[in-house]
Amino acid sequence: MGYKNKSSISCCILGAGTIGMIFAAYLKRIGIKVYILHHEDKPKTVLRARLQGSDLSGDYSFEIVTPEKAIDTDFILVATKAPDVLNALKGVQDVLNNGSDVIILSNGMGFHEKAEKLYQSARIFAATTTEAAHTSESGLIHHSASGRTVLGAFSSTKSPKWLTTWLNAIPDSSWTQNIKIALWEKLAINCVINPLTATHNCRNGDLMKDPALKELVKELCLEIEMVRDAAKIPCAGGPLFDLVSKVIFDTATNFSSMLQDMKAGRTTEIESITGYLVEMATVFEVEVPANKKLLEEIQIRYF
Ligand code: PAF
Repeated sequence: MGYKNKSSISCCILGAGTIGMIFAAYLKRIGIKVYILHHEDKPKTVLRARLQGSDLSGDYSFEIVTPEKAIDTDFILVATKAPDVLNALKGVQDVLNNGSDVIILSNGMGFHEKAEKLYQSARIFAATTTEAAHTSESGLIHHSASGRTVLGAFSSTKSPKWLTTWLNAIPDSSWTQNIKIALWEKLAINCVINPLTATHNCRNGDLMKDPALKELVKELCLEIEMVRDAAKIPCAGGPLFDLVSKVIFDTATNFSSMLQDMKAGRTTEIESITGYLVEMATVFEVEVPANKKLLEEIQIRYF
């Protein structure tokens, strides 16, 4: 493949789900020493994963380590589900209090600020990605789409010393001085597609086929734009409806992550997605009735 083992950078992954494993494989293939972080001593010392569906296909093994090991690594990559981010960080609080670089890759917003307040010695970075993967029943990780990944420091604008290595490892990745723009863009997409597909039990593409659902997509987009403008988050492109429509078309056959969580009986990420938007709407005194209704519906029915 032509990837040389020449990196002296090392990192820990916190949250070894499908996306966590995709990033672990990207980092490992250029020679970064990648560990999987676990709070307690596990009987297993190695985590093995088989990836398929892209040029990452193959068998991987990662050493499982306890938090003390993270002190010697260059960064911790958090790839848990949104509701687990703060708990996962609590498990490594001694490392964070010692001063550490943390990249939070999870969907949603709200926890970055909280992490920064809780662990002031740590440097918090945020990343957002359109990489997609799912685990099949047999435990294989299927890398269904390679995507774009944007990374930035959450409050400061200073880039980390491992940035060049990260950019070499993660395909189609970039550094931004204002990660909040990218986080809001992903939040907006998730606010529309995830709860709508979850409450209507449909594929992403169905949101554009049904005229009533398409109207709802428009209404949600307008409300989100009002909150984003009130929060003074610069808008990267044109109208949000155009961006969301494109994502819906590009992922037409997908079942959204929220619908998958719901079907599997897992806690959804609604609190960090629509919950965060509604919280911001309250702060900036913007009315968001359509988003509020969806939030309540998911909280009552599935949360
Ligand atoms: O959460 C998801 O499912 C994805 O972020 C997206 C873009 C909505 C596509 O399904």
